[in-house]
Amino acid sequence: MDSKRLHEAAGKRYSCRSYQREEPEELQRLHSFLMEGITDYQPGIVRYDLIVGVDAVSPILKAPFGPVPALLVISADMNEPYAMESTGFGGQQAVLEAAALGLATCWVSGMFSRSRAEGALDALAPGWQAVAVVAVGRAAPAARTTIKQKLFKFLSAQRGRRRPVGELLHPVDFCSLPRAAVEALTAATRAPSALNRQPWAFALNGSRLAISSTRPKPHRSDATRLDCGIAMLEFQAAARAGSMAGSWHPEAADDNPIASFPLSYPSSGDDLDEA
Ligand SMILES: Cc1cc2nc3c(=O)[nH]c(=O)nc-3n(C[C@H](O)[C@H](O)[C@H](O)COP(=O)(O)O)c2cc1C
Repeated sequence: MDSKRLHEAAGKRYSCRSYQREEPEELQRLHSFLMEGITDYQPGIVRYDLIVGVDAVSPILKAPFGPVPALLVISADMNEPYAMESTGFGGQQAVLEAAALGLATCWVSGMFSRSRAEGALDALAPGWQAVAVVAVGRAAPAARTTIKQKLFKFLSAQRGRRRPVGELLHPVDFCSLPRAAVEALTAATRAPSALNRQPWAFALNGSRLAISSTRPKPHRSDATRLDCGIAMLEFQAAARAGSMAGSWHPEAADDNPIASFPLSYPSSGDDLDEA
């Protein structure tokens, strides 16, 4: 994973709901990234399929989306306890790589037909499911955004507001965190989430930072785990782009906290992406 590239792209990313019809040539590079560039959270339990062409995508996506030239379908093995976090962690790498390539995206977990998305793929293995899709394309000029789409953006999701980073962690824990960890935490607060609900909380456990769902007992298929996986990716990319090493490790299956990140600080010059 090129953490610096993904972390920088995170600053440009936003959810786009209005696209140009034409298929961008960068889709080929995105496809290569999907096949070879994603670092799994848990190996072998998430699959990425790119559906190209407005006619192929239209039956799958619902309003307020107009024509969308490409759709990333993210499927996971729902028998696995970490399927949702893995979907968020891997899918957000694709979203940020798309942003780095100059493409616009929008995660969609509610407004799509799961059966049609699955019908458009080579057969999924038993127990696998299309968990979410991501619209991909070039953003339409603002003038072509419909009133319905503008209204949807205005009404939905607190209009992009984020909880301040100081709210995510107990104040005592917050004060004891090194600057690099605070910066990575700040990056995590900017992560996208369904309905912008930001359903994550962080806590210090010794020298480990733990992430929990704000739902007390999130079932392994709970959608907040997907959002947490996205925030975990944004944290890790920011940490490694800065002066921290490390990666997330899952907690016991079906538990909350969901995962923890050992806070360690390599001497400068270490290859953070190999740590
Ligand atoms: C898992 C997930 C599912 C989402 N589902 C939808 C959706 O069904 N429809 C939609 O218009 N936006 C959807 N969004 C986009 C969010 O509303 C958006 O990320 C949030 O409001 C924050 O805005 P931003 O992405 O522009 O920063 C989804 C986002 C995530 C992460």
